[in-house]
Amino acid sequence: MKKFAFPQDFLWGAATSAYQIEGAWNEDGKGESIWDRFAHTPGRILDQTNGDVACDHYRRWREDLAWMKELGLSAYRFSISWPRILPHGVGPVNPKGLDFYSRLVDELLGAGVTPFVTLYHWDLPQALQELGGWPERSICERFTLYADTVSRHLGDRVKHWITHNEPWCIAFLSHHLGEHAPGQKDLAAALRVAHHVLLSHGQSIPVIRRNSPASQVGLALNFTWVEPASDQPADLAATRWMDGYIQRWFTEPLSGRGYPADMVASFRALLAGGESFDFVRPGDLETIAQPTDFLGVNYYTRAVIRAAPPGQTLPVEARESANLPRTEMDWEIYPSGLTLLLGWLHSTYRLRKIFITENGCSFSDGPDEEGRVRDQRRIDYLQSHLLAAHAAILAGVPVAGYFAWSLLDNFEWAKGYAQRFGLVWVDPVTQQRIPKDSAWWYRQVIQNRGLVDPHPPAGKTGWPPLPWKISASTALPPFPKRN
Ligand code: FCB
Repeated sequence: MKKFAFPQDFLWGAATSAYQIEGAWNEDGKGESIWDRFAHTPGRILDQTNGDVACDHYRRWREDLAWMKELGLSAYRFSISWPRILPHGVGPVNPKGLDFYSRLVDELLGAGVTPFVTLYHWDLPQALQELGGWPERSICERFTLYADTVSRHLGDRVKHWITHNEPWCIAFLSHHLGEHAPGQKDLAAALRVAHHVLLSHGQSIPVIRRNSPASQVGLALNFTWVEPASDQPADLAATRWMDGYIQRWFTEPLSGRGYPADMVASFRALLAGGESFDFVRPGDLETIAQPTDFLGVNYYTRAVIRAAPPGQTLPVEARESANLPRTEMDWEIYPSGLTLLLGWLHSTYRLRKIFITENGCSFSDGPDEEGRVRDQRRIDYLQSHLLAAHAAILAGVPVAGYFAWSLLDNFEWAKGYAQRFGLVWVDPVTQQRIPKDSAWWYRQVIQNRGLVDPHPPAGKTGWPPLPWKISASTALPPFPKRN
């Protein structure tokens, strides 16, 4: 028997976010969010759907909690809807909103499931968007007030706080590439957003710590492992650029090194000199870099990068790589990227603790005639990524927990309901829930506190490539140093 054991106190979780599952978009005093507005705008969502009902979790949360218990999760990561708490962004608190999350937290704790609360998973109150949204510096103060309200009410019981989910998506995907709400395409605005998201993270930390003593605070970044399409200098430079755009623009200031100079120069050039970076005020970088207790790592895929012809939004292109299996999001399955990423993060930034706050895959397998969801491809994906995390742990990276994305099939933002990431299948019409084979498999992993005799995935592709042969006893090579 071969066992890939995880640390005794390792947390085994699943994650969701408010807009993707709650529904009840205008009930019990909730205000409108930018995602309500965006999804109600024709043409924004691929299948013309929205989160009005989603998984109806606002009503069915007890059933969802029962599944968490059944699967034996030790942690659950969810987000709070800002406009459910403060319908206008600031001002009067909606007590029904607070009660909803308070009950959820109580029952999670009663079930032995540790709540991980994300304060901002993209659903900004529309009222604040109308005041300028994230590009305006005043948003930082408003976010801190919101964090204060939530942590004052839940901070006695919630001990794990994630200020922001994926600042890159908030800044660049939503304000530069225009794919997510509010759908802007303005690099200068996106840079201000990135700064204000990071600044509000830093400003809210002491407030959360004050309201929630002995808690752990961090944020969750999205990472894509990037590799060059060739060793041509232009492709190497493009890869470095992409790494700067997705990763280093956030990891560097958060770790006290300021914004990376190569990217500052590149952004200045892209803006044709029109941006002075004067939104970075004295003291901001210190606020951003204050110590946190953990880093949340969201990892799904790799991108193979080459230089783009001039005149495109980005100076780089992500190239399809050869012969690797992909998920239905068209994301390449590349588990070794997770080992490499964790190693790079730890060797570069010497992090205290890492939680893998998201990892998972979209496959649309639904129930067969027996009502069973045979999603072997998800099992293969999760297994290979857990092995990749295990390899990093063996090499000394302090990974303390893993959250599968997602507990439920849900509203996958601009892609709508066609993309299914859940461990639990959800019928969007009847709201029936069916745990997939992967859910039962995950339950077994949790019971075993690791992987016992993992089998190679079926099909001709075999194991996705790993940087070295995995074995519990293999002495791992040192992690590549970058920077
Ligand atoms: C991440 C988001 C999460 C989900 C997954 C698939 O970028 O944080 O809400 O959409 O991707």
